[in-house]
Amino acid sequence: MDGERRPHVRAVHGVRGTQDFARELAQSFGPRAFYALEGDLGAGKTCFVQGLCDGLGIRAAVSSPTFAIANEYRDESSGRRFLHLDLYRLSGPDELDTIGWDDYLDSGDPMAVEWPERAEGRLPPGAIRVRFSIGPGPDDRTIEVDPPPPDR
Ligand SMILES: Nc1ncnc2c1ncn2[C@@H]1O[C@H](COP(=O)(O)OP(=O)(O)O)[C@@H](O)[C@H]1O
Ligand SMILES: [Mg+2]
Repeated sequence: MDGERRPHVRAVHGVRGTQDFARELAQSFGPRAFYALEGDLGAGKTCFVQGLCDGLGIRAAVSSPTFAIANEYRDESSGRRFLHLDLYRLSGPDELDTIGWDDYLDSGDPMAVEWPERAEGRLPPGAIRVRFSIGPGPDDRTIEVDPPPPDR
C-alpha cells in the first residue's frame, strides 16, 4: 500500500461538473466536514457549496452571502444545518470573534468557508482544503482536494 496521501485533483467542466464533484465529496467526507475553499472570484466556490448541500441531503437555496458574512441553510424536513461563510469582507482574524466563529466550529455542523485565508490560524485541524483554478476554457476548472477523500 502506498501510505502517502497526495491531494486529489479533478478536472471538471461547467457548473454541473463542479456540483457533481462536490456532491461526490460530501458523500465521501460525511456530514461533519469543514471545507476551506480557495480560489479567485468566479472560480466556482459557491457553486461547489450547492453540490455539498445537495450531497448531504440539505435542500436549500444556496447563494453568496452578499450582505451577511454567514448563511445558514436548514433542511425543512430533517432540521439539519449547513453553514456557508464568505470571509472576503473580513478585515482579519480578529474580526472572527464578532461573527461567532468559534460557536460555528463548536456546533459540529458541516461548514464551508470561502476566503479561508482571512481565518488563517483559526481553521480547524481537520479542514479539507479545496483549491479552484480556472481554465483552460472559461467553463473548465481544476479542483484540488487535500486531504483526498477516504476510499469508500
Ligand atoms: N466549471 C464551473 N464551475 C463553477 N462555475 C463555473 C464553471 N464554469 C463556469 N462557471 C461560472 O463561474 C461562476 C462561478 O461563480 P461562483 O460559484 O459564485 O464563484 P465564487 O464563489 O468562487 O466567486 C458562475 O458564473 C458560473 O456560471
Ligand atoms: Mg462565492
